[in-house]
Amino acid sequence: MRYIEFGPGKAKVSELVLGTMRIAQMQPKEVATLIETALDAGVNAVDTAPIYGPSEHIIGEAFAARPGLRDRVWLQTKLGIRPHPRAKANYFDFSYDHIIESLENSLRVLKTDHIDSLLLHRPDALMVPEEIAQAFQELHDAGKVIDFGVSNQNPAQIRRLESYLAFPICANQVQLSCAFTPMLDASLNVNMENDASVMRDGGILEYAYDKGMAIQAWSVMQHGYFGGVFLGNPDYADLNAALDTIATEHGVTAAAVAINWVLRVPGKMQAIVGTTKAQRVTKSAAACDWEMTREEWYEIYLAAGNALP
Ligand SMILES: NC(=O)c1ccc[n+]([C@@H]2O[C@H](COP(=O)([O-])OP(=O)(O)OC[C@H]3O[C@@H](n4cnc5c(N)ncnc54)[C@H](OP(=O)(O)O)[C@@H]3O)[C@@H](O)[C@H]2O)c1
Repeated sequence: MRYIEFGPGKAKVSELVLGTMRIAQMQPKEVATLIETALDAGVNAVDTAPIYGPSEHIIGEAFAARPGLRDRVWLQTKLGIRPHPRAKANYFDFSYDHIIESLENSLRVLKTDHIDSLLLHRPDALMVPEEIAQAFQELHDAGKVIDFGVSNQNPAQIRRLESYLAFPICANQVQLSCAFTPMLDASLNVNMENDASVMRDGGILEYAYDKGMAIQAWSVMQHGYFGGVFLGNPDYADLNAALDTIATEHGVTAAAVAINWVLRVPGKMQAIVGTTKAQRVTKSAAACDWEMTREEWYEIYLAAGNALP
């Protein structure tokens, strides 16, 4: 397993992160075993969020079931996505009151006295940086949160928030897989007239690299926006053929190749794996044992249906 240095304290955090968005049907003891299996494979990071149904609650029960487990984990949660009481959708809330209330609730259900990394989950159009900064500072001073980050934010939003903070934004959690590449498409098609050249994100990858900010890729096995798994998907036959070929050559699974592809992007890259199967975590850990060549990386990019200038 490879590790990045996270935040000003340079916490040693694995490039693979265990995502827990899909654990709602699991028992706490099963989740404890999943986390322990991840730890055995060198994966010391767990990501959750209040909006993932009972995820935080189940993790808290898992910690309670296995004394000492919490202390072995680098724990990240998020906040700011709230179910709307009337509209059939979620809305976003980065108000001071919600930040404090949500974090206190996370500490309670996760049965812990601190969170290692707290992310703002999705941009709130009504966010006021001074309010966020006040809440972050109080949580930091109280020792309740070590490091802070964002998710799905562009550099302009991060830059503005950072200008109100006494500490850096340490991570941006964004969607990236070999079948979902808008951030890379724009960087590869600069000043072209095709759709791929449209930069919709304001240079997230470039900004993160320059700042030493971690990029945490979510849905590394998915296509589209929650479109489903591309592995074994006949709509992605060429991509699967390329992944399988490279997997065979390296003696790893196609999933490990897909993860390696994301981690091969320069910078402090992390891949959040959302599997509920312990053996898949173990096999995915092999993604960090080798580095993909440029030829392999571009072969996969092209096999996913992309063109290069
Ligand atoms: N910040 C955000 O906005 C945001 C959004 C979405 C997710 N996230 C985070 O990112 C994490 C990962 O997201 P995700 O769950 O969408 O990621 P994912 O790892 O791409 O998807 C996990 C799903 O893919 C399946 N899968 C994994 N490996 C497979 C394989 N080899 N063959 C077939 N199916 C396979 C899993 O099934 P099995 O369980 O059966 O293995 C599971 O249903 C989440 O848990 C969450 O922490 C963040």
